[in-house]
Amino acid sequence: MLSSLQPQAPDKILMLMEEFKADSRQGKIDLGVGVYKDPQGVTPVMRAVKAAEKRIWEEQTTKAYTGLAGTPEYRAAMAGLVLGDAPKDRLASVASVGGTGAIRQALELARLANPDLTVYVSDPTWPNHLSIMKFMGLPFVEYRYFDNETRGVDFEAMKDDIAKAGKGDIVLLHGCCHNPTGANLTLDQWREVIAILEKSGAVPLVDLAYQGFGDGIEADAEATRLVAKGLPEVLIAASCSKNFGIYRERTGILIALADGEQARDLAQGSMAYLNRQNFSFPPDHGARIVTTILEDQALKSDWQAEVEEIRTTLLALREQLASELRDLSGSDRFDFIARHRGMFSRLGATPEQVAAMREDAAIYMVGDSRLNIAGLNRETVPVLARAIVEAGL
Ligand code: LMR
Repeated sequence: MLSSLQPQAPDKILMLMEEFKADSRQGKIDLGVGVYKDPQGVTPVMRAVKAAEKRIWEEQTTKAYTGLAGTPEYRAAMAGLVLGDAPKDRLASVASVGGTGAIRQALELARLANPDLTVYVSDPTWPNHLSIMKFMGLPFVEYRYFDNETRGVDFEAMKDDIAKAGKGDIVLLHGCCHNPTGANLTLDQWREVIAILEKSGAVPLVDLAYQGFGDGIEADAEATRLVAKGLPEVLIAASCSKNFGIYRERTGILIALADGEQARDLAQGSMAYLNRQNFSFPPDHGARIVTTILEDQALKSDWQAEVEEIRTTLLALREQLASELRDLSGSDRFDFIARHRGMFSRLGATPEQVAAMREDAAIYMVGDSRLNIAGLNRETVPVLARAIVEAGL
C-alpha cells in the first residue's frame, strides 16, 4: 500500500532550513524560516516563559485531559490579548495546534458552513496557506496585494479583487506584519476593506501570527479589532509561536465571532467537534504558559518588555539595512525596508538574484526574496547590503 504513495512537494521554507544546515561555509547567514534570533543568533526562551514553566512545574498536580476547546482560562486570556475590550458575547473559540492548526480548523469550519465557498488570499501569501487549501481541495483565488515597484500594497487592485468575493466566501487577511512581504494596510485602508466585506457578506479570516513584532502588542491588534467590531461574522487564527517564542509547543487559537448567540453556540460546537476529529484535545503546555503569563501582572509586564525589545531590535536592523543600502546604491530605492513591519520583507529580487546571493555570499532567503530580518545582526547587515547591490538589485 505505502509504495503507491506519491512524493509530496517539499515546503520551500522548510527545505531552505535543511539546505542552510548542510552548507559548511563559515559566515553563512540564515534569513529563511520565520524564527526570531537574538543578535547572538540564538532563539531564546523568553524570561516570562521560563518563569511560567517553573511555576507550572511546581504547581501542576495532573496531566489529565483538559477540554476539547482547551481551558476557559486560556481562551479568555487570548481573547483579551487579541480583541482587547471588544465585546465577547458573540465569541466562540478553541485552542489549536499552533497558528497553522487554527488556519486549518478555520477553513474546515467555513467549509462545514458553506461547502461551496471560495477562499480569497493575497498574492503573495504564506506558502502553507496555499498548500493547506490545495490539500483540502478548497477552491481559492489570489487577490492582488504587493506592488513590485513600490514594494508597498497595491491597494486599489486589492480592493477591486476582494470585492469579487461573494456572500459566504472567505477573504484571508494578515492582521499585521504581512508574511511574506512586510507591506501592510493602514487603518484607514482596513476600514475600506471592512466596508467592502460588509457590502458583499464575505467573511474575513484574519491570520494574526506576529502580534507585537510590528508597531506594538496593542497597535498590531488594532486592525483585527476593527474587523471584529465592524463585521457580523469574523474568523481569527492567532498564533503564540512567535510573540511568546514557544514555536515547538504548538500554541494557537481559533476565534469565531458569530452573528447572534445561536450562531455562536453552533460555531462553538462545530469547532470543538473539529478538534475531536482532527486530534482530540489541543496541546496544553504552551497554552498554560501563555495563560500563566497573561494572568499575572508581573510576568505579563516582563513579557511585554521582552516583546518590545524584540520589536525594537527588528526595527533597528531595518533602519540599518535601509541606510547601508542608501549609501551603497546612492539612492533611496531600498527605503521600503524601513517602512515594512514585522519579521519579513520582500526584496523584489528575481529567483536568479536570490540564487546568486546564496552561491556567492552564503546568504539564504526564500526564493521569492523574502528575508527574515531577525536572522541579521549589526555585523551581518553590511554583508547583506553588499550582496544585494552586487546581485544587481
Ligand atoms: C515562516 O513563515 O517562516 C514561519 O511561519 C514558519 C513556517 O512554519 O513556515
